Amino acid sequence: TYVVVENCIKCKYMDCVEVCPVDCFYEGENMLVIHPDECIDCGVCEPECPAEAIKPDTESGLDQWLKLNAEYAKSWPNITVKRDPPADAKEHDGEAGKLDKYFS
Ligand code: SF4
Ligand code: F3S
Repeated sequence: TYVVVENCIKCKYMDCVEVCPVDCFYEGENMLVIHPDECIDCGVCEPECPAEAIKPDTESGLDQWLKLNAEYAKSWPNITVKRDPPADAKEHDGEAGKLDKYFS
């Protein structure tokens, strides 16, 4: 599966949802997650994310994010259509500690 990681938080560009062939993105207030049982590992979303916030689970160090994606994909609503990203998305791109500061 592919995994949405910390830099999505508060950036939420949503380019990813437009390209996913199986519509497996789910939406929280400040970030999206990928449903690990629905993702078919096609990889097309990874280069589409302007925040570089999508990684293959073959990368090391993603355990926390794998867990978070799996957990929230169960309860958050599905998202398949991109809207305007947050107005301050650029200011939060690359910011450290976003999980603790803003996650929802
Ligand atoms: Fe969707 Fe493919 Fe990205 Fe998985 S890797 S979330 S199937 S676009
Ligand atoms: Fe997040 Fe990147 Fe998608 S910022 S909403 S994973 S395009």
